[in-house]
Amino acid sequence: MTLTIADRLLHWYDQHRRQLPWRGDPDPYAVWVSEIMLQQTRVDTVIPYYDRWLAQFPAIADLAAASLEDVLKLWEGLGYYSRARNLHQAAQQVVRDFGGQLPNNLQDLRTLSGVGRYTAGAIASICFDLDEPTLDGNIRRVLSRLFDVVEPLGSSQGDRILWELARTHLPSGRAGDYNQAWMDLGATICTPRNPQCELCPLRSDCQAYGLGIQSDRPVPKPR
Ligand code: ADE
Repeated sequence: MTLTIADRLLHWYDQHRRQLPWRGDPDPYAVWVSEIMLQQTRVDTVIPYYDRWLAQFPAIADLAAASLEDVLKLWEGLGYYSRARNLHQAAQQVVRDFGGQLPNNLQDLRTLSGVGRYTAGAIASICFDLDEPTLDGNIRRVLSRLFDVVEPLGSSQGDRILWELARTHLPSGRAGDYNQAWMDLGATICTPRNPQCELCPLRSDCQAYGLGIQSDRPVPKPR
């Protein structure tokens, strides 16, 4: 029996997964906060903010009841403040529309302020074990190299192909690990510059590696 790409990826992840505060027993609220913070900010920067946030707002209802001023104060230094405003507003939506519990399906998640396709897929897979793919910058880069995607990042065609690839290889029942394994592979091995291909569990599957064109994938957005 030959191993699939997901088999090899998950085997690697089982051995190398990063210990992060929001991994383990995932409280949907905590995972949601982490995913929003991680969208434009690196893991090392996020961790202290994440810890302070959960200490001050341990549950969605606490966040919903807080003043916007206090919320923005806690966000100070993270940048992209619309993320904090959206979290605050979405917490109020969750209290009003969903009884204070983060909804457990893609469609309802996407009604929340600041929750797009990426965040909804991440929460659905990590917290609710739904077979949903997701795509962030790391995953887009890894998939573009692995499958030699020539359509530029950000093009509608490229986007369609990447979502399709992420869905095609998703192993039923382990979507949360699968999505986070791509993220970790992209953050630690398949990095934007000088990827460490000699350490990559998918080297023998990687089309860009085979062609020696890792640094030409992904094809950047035309400017
Ligand atoms: N970046 C964004 N979300 C992440 C996650 N769940 N794990 C690792 N890196 C991430």
